[in-house]
Amino acid sequence: MPELIDPTPDLRTSFLAAVAEFRADRDYPTPWFVNDVDPPALTDATAFTAYVTRLLGEQDEAAGRAEWFVPMTTLWWVEGDQMLGRLAIRHRLTPALEKVGGHIGYDVRPSARRQGHATAMLAAALPIARSLGIAEALLTVDATNVASRRVIETNGGRFIDTVGEKCRYRVTTT
Ligand SMILES: CC(C)(COP(=O)(O)OP(=O)(O)OC[C@H]1O[C@@H](n2cnc3c(N)ncnc32)[C@H](O)[C@@H]1OP(=O)(O)O)[C@@H](O)C(=O)NCCC(=O)NCCS
Repeated sequence: MPELIDPTPDLRTSFLAAVAEFRADRDYPTPWFVNDVDPPALTDATAFTAYVTRLLGEQDEAAGRAEWFVPMTTLWWVEGDQMLGRLAIRHRLTPALEKVGGHIGYDVRPSARRQGHATAMLAAALPIARSLGIAEALLTVDATNVASRRVIETNGGRFIDTVGEKCRYRVTTT
């Protein structure tokens, strides 16, 4: 049974394989966390450990001084030594994130899709969001992203409205 865990340097090989899959994927836009990394550089164990340390540090309020920064908990959906997906919980929202981004975002690597992972991963994340003080999570999704809308609705998401190309949902975290 997969579980949500903190990012760890131990999963470097699987993480980089997942990134390669995301980059080759033609079904969805490349997730921003994939564009945020330089895979050749991260083949170095020390550099990968530094990347993981940065991710873990993003949970702290003091990590970013930029106006747009909000603390964010990144979690990896893992079975054995395989990273199947990732999920991030923003601890609070800015006016921009209220429109696009929301509290929770997730990505499942292409080879692991359509096996229920995103649905299970979001379910596993809701109590964690609750523990971070988020009683009602806001999720935004492209109106055309049928799969992600199903994931949200299966987890109790209530449709609020459409802002531009994004549908917004509320999900109670209890
Ligand atoms: C969207 C995404 C997270 C779905 O992950 P997944 O693990 O395949 O989702 P699940 O297996 O839990 O499937 C959820 C539902 O969507 C359906 N589904 C999955 N992929 C689908 C597709 N390509 N077309 C239509 N329906 C699809 C499943 O059949 C399932 O339906 P059900 O609840 O009626 O049984 C994954 O495709 C992905 O990472 N896409 C790129 C990033 C992204 O879009 N992230 C979400 C941003 S809001």
